Amino acid sequence: MKWAEARLPVATEVAEAVAAAFLEAGSAGTATLPGDAVGQVAVVGYFPVDDGLDARLVDLRRRLRHLRAAGIAVPTSSGLSLRPLADEAWATAWRAYFRPQRVGERILVVPGWEQPEPRAGDVVVRIDPGQAFGTGSHPTTRLCLAALENHLRAGDRVLDWGTGSGILAIAATLLGAREVLAVDVDPIAVEAARANVQANDVADRVVVVHGDLVAVPTAGGPFDLAVANIVAEVIAGGAAQLAERVRPDGRLITGGVVAAPRKLSGLVEGALAGAGFVPLEVTREEEWVTTVYRSRRSRDAAG
Ligand SMILES: C[S@@+](CC[C@H](N)C(=O)[O-])C[C@H]1O[C@@H](n2cnc3c(N)ncnc32)[C@H](O)[C@@H]1O
Repeated sequence: MKWAEARLPVATEVAEAVAAAFLEAGSAGTATLPGDAVGQVAVVGYFPVDDGLDARLVDLRRRLRHLRAAGIAVPTSSGLSLRPLADEAWATAWRAYFRPQRVGERILVVPGWEQPEPRAGDVVVRIDPGQAFGTGSHPTTRLCLAALENHLRAGDRVLDWGTGSGILAIAATLLGAREVLAVDVDPIAVEAARANVQANDVADRVVVVHGDLVAVPTAGGPFDLAVANIVAEVIAGGAAQLAERVRPDGRLITGGVVAAPRKLSGLVEGALAGAGFVPLEVTREEEWVTTVYRSRRSRDAAG
């Protein structure tokens, strides 16, 4: 497999959002490198060179336009450059920028290839994301981890919709979940999540399934807690299906939603309100919003 490095110089404060756009467009990993001027960095992403490369770059440009339309100061894609890489160089290139990091009070996310130095009481989540999203370096993942730490109760049955690297499913288990069902539509994510579940020694409590919410049974016990760190449109579209899977009085944590444009966050709030979810808590980092909801569906409706 040949690889290409895409590079876009941006202002430091928008680097996270741009890196997320690279990943969502199919980049196998990203890194943020020092820029040419104060307040500037270069976001780089690594793309496989195959028949799908052009489509991924079109998708990347569309996502950058979308961020600009949302009021995030992303430069036009005319600044985007592409260069071929020596085989496999990307694999080590982006790994150099994935460092252990603390989230919330006691979660420590550690690259799978590093030796952690935990403090007493730490929950250590070891992640090798491969080509999947979820190293804990993106605000949406961090916000969802912190929300899990605060809202998960020991013994909960948890649904992780859009598991990516499996980071939230693994953290939920280590925080005390009885069992976790993790789903993702991307087969590469499913593979990465399964490998991470094994590496964290939680395969007895986490099942990773390839598919959408329809792959998740409604019968046999709705979930005490669901977490969905996916883009706004997908969460809004799945609101009714989520409601069927979260037990009355259960909780839902949503991530991946940008505060602006208001139209999009309003779409999620409206769809979830219609499905019986009441917001309990909102946390923000940069432009990203995570909301914890409570399901107020009646037991009869949950039937
Ligand atoms: C932003 S990543 C989140 C990964 C990880 N949960 C985290 O918090 O870092 C979103 C994931 O959702 C998956 N996804 C997108 N739409 C989906 C859908 N309709 N059903 C299941 N997974 C979906 C993507 O493949 C991707 O792995």
